[in-house]
Amino acid sequence: MNKISILLLCCILSVFVLNAQSKTKWLGAGKAVDPYNYTQVKHEFYNNAAVSCAHPLASLIGAQIMKQGGNAFDAGIAVQLALAVVYPAAGNIGGGGFLIAKKANNSFLAIDYREVAPGNSSKNMYLDKEGNAQLELSQNGRLASGVPGTIAGLFATLPSAKLDFKLLIQPAIDLAAFGYVITEREASSLNANQKSFLKYNNTKIAFVKDQIWKAGDTLFQPELANTLIRIQQNGAKGFYEGETAKLIVNEMNKGNGIISLTDLKNYKAKFRKPLSFKYNGYSIYGFPPPSSGGIILLQMMKMVEKTSQIQKGFQTPEATQIMIEAERRAYADRAEHLGDPDFWKVPIKTMSSDTYLAKRMSDFIPGKASKSAEIKAGDIKESEETTHISIYDKQGNMVSITTTLNGGYGSKTVVAGAGFLLNNEMDDFSVKPGVANMFGAVGGEANAIQPGKRMLSSMCPVIVTKNGKPAIVVGTPGGTTIPTSVYQALVNSINFGMNIDDAINKPKFHHQHLPDEVFIEPNFPAELKNSLQTMGYKLTNRASIGKTEMIFIHKNKIEVAADRRGDDSVAGF
Ligand code: DON
Repeated sequence: MNKISILLLCCILSVFVLNAQSKTKWLGAGKAVDPYNYTQVKHEFYNNAAVSCAHPLASLIGAQIMKQGGNAFDAGIAVQLALAVVYPAAGNIGGGGFLIAKKANNSFLAIDYREVAPGNSSKNMYLDKEGNAQLELSQNGRLASGVPGTIAGLFATLPSAKLDFKLLIQPAIDLAAFGYVITEREASSLNANQKSFLKYNNTKIAFVKDQIWKAGDTLFQPELANTLIRIQQNGAKGFYEGETAKLIVNEMNKGNGIISLTDLKNYKAKFRKPLSFKYNGYSIYGFPPPSSGGIILLQMMKMVEKTSQIQKGFQTPEATQIMIEAERRAYADRAEHLGDPDFWKVPIKTMSSDTYLAKRMSDFIPGKASKSAEIKAGDIKESEETTHISIYDKQGNMVSITTTLNGGYGSKTVVAGAGFLLNNEMDDFSVKPGVANMFGAVGGEANAIQPGKRMLSSMCPVIVTKNGKPAIVVGTPGGTTIPTSVYQALVNSINFGMNIDDAINKPKFHHQHLPDEVFIEPNFPAELKNSLQTMGYKLTNRASIGKTEMIFIHKNKIEVAADRRGDDSVAGF
């Protein structure tokens, strides 16, 4: 499409959008949320409400929604929809996620809107005739997609919100129809994916351009705007039935896709019970299976809580070593025992018991690296681009949402005519026992593919209270590194007394049992590297671990921080 036809389409759309319901355009040059001129704010204090997420425009929209009388749930819905437009690598309507929240009335909410395996999926669907795993198929293109859950998740959240859904989706429609200016980082991410976009799509998509993308270019997504308008007018049915559902199935039929109209119509978000535990006087609430996030976090934190090593402090060899060994052991359990609890009996009770965790650490030797070959999963008889949103409002609602397409831009396939990317979440299943997925995670029967089953996740949205009062909202993307990032952000804050800007931005480390190595971020101190190497650890450099968004609720103010590794930004008032 050339510039003139894009502009023409936008004019037609704008008439449609304006007629659809909005009296005035919500966003625009010079308005509170100006998609053509915005800046990042990394660390701030507010009195009434705060949002931290991967894109400044989405954070501003969340804050604006709360200014207009919405609560943290209204903001959560509007921010996710905005991210689906301004952060296409991970923000989504074609993916899924998890929301955990504590409401002002002290009740808790955990909404699971993870994708599910399509009805026509099967255990060995990614194996060739010789039984070799075909990871190209589980990671790219139409067959890689699970049935999307995000829109069902938004509508499961809506009863906790205050404003009309039509208002909450309007900013996203405006951003898609009227465009927004992209950053340097977004331009290079889009440029890096041009070949894949061409390979996995056979129609022209909004992300493909003849010249290279540059910071300051405007991205228009007219087809996505129309899809959002259908959702605005028809609710969840505007996605799971009718025109959008037909477009998804048409896209499947262009190649090897298997998502059917029935799969879409049957998709349901599920309400789960948060997984909670006590840590140093705080109550921590994480997401239960089908995410491994909450249980891994629980195990890692409980394994270090009462140790003398953790008291030694930040970046000491003692504290770092015991944290690494806790990571190793928790991830060994993940591979063996975790899967969708509706299909597999997950031994959560044992995995979280003090006795079991003490036994897991009984072979820990201070000053000497354990070996993953010797640390199997515990014996018990009874799962890159994602995005996180942390929100708090003064009424006391805490909302923590992690949502994803799985890899950056998911399957790389855009639903033709509907303008949104589909996830490649099927790769989070164990496609073959022992074969590592795109994050190096292995698994077995617990996480094998079955129709209707949810693939194991590492996503770890968390809320924390102290003496029953709101204390922390935190979460991050990062594949298997998600629970370790949240773990380190919490330990940095609770044990090491850091402010949240430091707690999320100091260099991190990650061990996931296999491979038997510690991944470290740039700026990891040389002296600490030497100490760990002397203990026998293999260290591997990694560009970055996580992009954490954190809120700390002080007595009279709300402190909010956005990760400095990306374009992440906070907003509030
Ligand atoms: O659910 C999971 O664990 C993965 N699909 C998350 C992917 C992810 O975080 C990629 N991001 N950096």
